[in-house]
Amino acid sequence: MDAHLEGGILYTRAETRTPWSEHQRDSSRMFISIRKVRKFVQLLATCCIVGLMIFWTPLDNSVVSHMKSYSYRYLINSYHFVNDSLSVSKHSSDAVASYPYLINHEEKCQQQDVLLLLFVKTSPENWHRRNAIRQTWGNENYVHSQLNASIKVVFALGRLTDRTQQAWVQRKLILEDQKYSDLIQKDFLDTFHNLTLKLLLQFSWVNTYCPHAKFIMSADDDIFIHMPNLVAYLQSLAQMGVQDLWIGRVHRGSPPVRDKLSKYYVPYEMYPWSSYPDYTAGAAYVISSDVAAKVYEASQTLNTSLYIDDVFMGLCANKMGIVPQYHAFFSGEGKAPYHPCIYNKMMTSHGHVEDLHHLWKQATDPKVKNFASGFLSRVYCKLVNIWLLCRLHYEDTYPCSAVFS
Ligand SMILES: *[C@@H]1O[C@H](CO)[C@@H](O)[C@H](O)[C@H]1NC(C)=O
Ligand SMILES: *[C@@H]1O[C@H](CO)[C@@H](O)[C@H](O)[C@H]1NC(C)=O
Ligand SMILES: *[C@@H]1O[C@H](CO)[C@@H](O)[C@H](O)[C@H]1NC(C)=O
Ligand SMILES: *[C@@H]1O[C@H](CO)[C@@H](O)[C@H](O)[C@H]1NC(C)=O
Repeated sequence: MDAHLEGGILYTRAETRTPWSEHQRDSSRMFISIRKVRKFVQLLATCCIVGLMIFWTPLDNSVVSHMKSYSYRYLINSYHFVNDSLSVSKHSSDAVASYPYLINHEEKCQQQDVLLLLFVKTSPENWHRRNAIRQTWGNENYVHSQLNASIKVVFALGRLTDRTQQAWVQRKLILEDQKYSDLIQKDFLDTFHNLTLKLLLQFSWVNTYCPHAKFIMSADDDIFIHMPNLVAYLQSLAQMGVQDLWIGRVHRGSPPVRDKLSKYYVPYEMYPWSSYPDYTAGAAYVISSDVAAKVYEASQTLNTSLYIDDVFMGLCANKMGIVPQYHAFFSGEGKAPYHPCIYNKMMTSHGHVEDLHHLWKQATDPKVKNFASGFLSRVYCKLVNIWLLCRLHYEDTYPCSAVFS
């Protein structure tokens, strides 16, 4: 038996290599029947693929992109190819230091026992999102009184791009900050292509003002974080003295986008290789303080022109030999299903703006915890979660494997 790949479909071939002999009738008959089987298998496979393409277009897109990235990931299976051509000399490189702070809170993190320092990446005009976060999962007082943990939540941002609006928006920001004292702003334009600057702002701030926080998290401002679940999880990790932690939704071996029309387009001169190192989606991830220090160190030696911030973080971590870990309940692009059986385990969910208050109320209701504690309700929740997460209809929320984790 030997196997070969033809048009992506695997056939096995049973040609006998023995010379034509007295068994020729038998073997030729066998050969013919095997050819028939092959034709049939070929037809069946073609039907399946055509069916997939017609009926599951959303699934198909994701299947194709995943097959691509997995083949990069597992054929190459090492990132030593990312070489020194991305390095720069140490002096030319502190890209973010040259931008002065417009708003800062050096004292924010002075307290010694900070469990979690949480950066929310926001933009000047998103005050509604910031207020919703302050009233829900980003409420430090709630976490302190209800969860007995000390967290610090700050908003990282740059300056508004629109020149005609800049002055009054900046005045509004200063008023907002006088009320809440939680904005960290530097003097660069708050644009998509400056996201790496925003990442550097976070790491440089941690390094200067908060190196003692046990964990650091970075999150988008349209994220929902189940703070009780997250804090409980981090407290258990802290007790074990965990180090080298970098956890979130891991992108394994994603290929750079070479389509000039895409938002994520990266030219060959910027990144010549066909696969990125593994990294966690920038929407929400957690690192331990030792990782923050190492990433900060690496960031000072790399060319910061790569503007996709989570990929840049991946390059820094790769340089320091840090590997991201997958957590099944950090969601992808999609919203988590609204269900008590999900709330009990969820960490983050993406794309929540209007429904943040509602979800926070539902998901942190004490009834949820009580409900999930009995044996029968655990079985019930397993079944519900299989139904919610393991359907073929593809949504980028939690993977099916989350049910069994
Ligand atoms: C880095 O890798 C690129 C692409 O593989 C190659 O062209 C270049 O010569 C390498 N540079 C160094 C400094 O090794
Ligand atoms: C709160 O946490 C501290 C440690 O951070 C612990 O010493 C204390 O016992 C906890 N208090 C309660 C009420 O659980
Ligand atoms: C990033 O911010 C700097 C400083 O404000 C600005 O000069 C530059 O144009 C911005 N870059 C992009 C790509 O928006
Ligand atoms: C960083 O890379 C860009 C290309 O993406 C290049 O134009 C630039 O000169 C590099 N910067 C340094 C300091 O090497």
